[in-house]
Amino acid sequence: MDPTFWRERWRNQEIGFHQPDFHALLQEHWPRLALPQGSPVFVPLCGKSLDMVWLAQQGHRVIGAELSELAVDSFFSERGLAPAMRQAGGFTIKSAGPYELWCGDVFEMPREAAGDVAGVYDRAALIALPPPLQGRYATKLKEIVPAAAPILLVTLDYDQSQMSGPPFATPRRQVHDLFADDYACTELASRQVLEGHPHFKQRGLTALEECAFLLRRK
Ligand SMILES: C[S@@+](CC[C@H](N)C(=O)[O-])C[C@H]1O[C@@H](n2cnc3c(N)ncnc32)[C@H](O)[C@@H]1O
Repeated sequence: MDPTFWRERWRNQEIGFHQPDFHALLQEHWPRLALPQGSPVFVPLCGKSLDMVWLAQQGHRVIGAELSELAVDSFFSERGLAPAMRQAGGFTIKSAGPYELWCGDVFEMPREAAGDVAGVYDRAALIALPPPLQGRYATKLKEIVPAAAPILLVTLDYDQSQMSGPPFATPRRQVHDLFADDYACTELASRQVLEGHPHFKQRGLTALEECAFLLRRK
C-alpha cells in the first residue's frame, strides 16, 4: 500500500485493526518459540500494539518497525513514557524502557536494526500488505532477521471476492509459498473469528479464519 494510505488511517484514527487486549494466540503459542530469557524480539508493522507490552512483560526487549510516527508516539504516550530519539539510515528511532521503535518503511530497514533478535512476532503485518508486496516482505524478513530466529505468524483468510483488503486474505498455501523454501512451517492453531469482527460481517464476509504458524529456519 502507499505509505500515505496508512498515515491517513492513523491521522483519521481508522484503526479497527488495533486490539484492546493482548492477542490470545500470542499468549498461547509464544512459549513454543522457547526464546532465551531477556532476548530481543522484532515486531514488524507494529502499530501501537499492546502485544509489545505483553512481550516486554515476558522479559523481551522489543524492536518495532512502523511507518506512522503518530502510532509510535501514541504507543509511548499511552504508557506514560517519554522516548529518547535518534536518527539512523533515514529512520527516526524512538526508545524508552524495553521498547525501540523504528519509524519508517520496513522495506528500508537496515540489517543491523534486527540483527540480534531471537524471534519475530507478526500479527497483521504480512496480511496488511497486498499479495504482490508479501513476497518482498518475506524476502526482507529473511534478509534482516538472523536465521536462528523463529517467527510466530498470525494470518487471516477469507473469500477475497467478498471484501477488498487490507487485511488481505492470506491462505495457508500462500504462507507456504512465501516461506517454505527456507522455513519449516507448522500450523499451530486455526479458528473462525468472524463473530469478533462485526465490521467485516457488515462489509460482506461470511467466514473469517485466523491461523497461527510457527516458522523455523530449516
Ligand atoms: C494492520 S496494521 C497492524 C498493526 C499491528 N501489527 C497490530 O497488530 O495492531 C498494519 C500497520 O503497518 C504499518 N505499515 C504499513 N506498511 C508499512 C511499512 N511499509 N513499513 C512499516 N510499517 C508499515 C501501518 O501504519 C499499520 O500501523
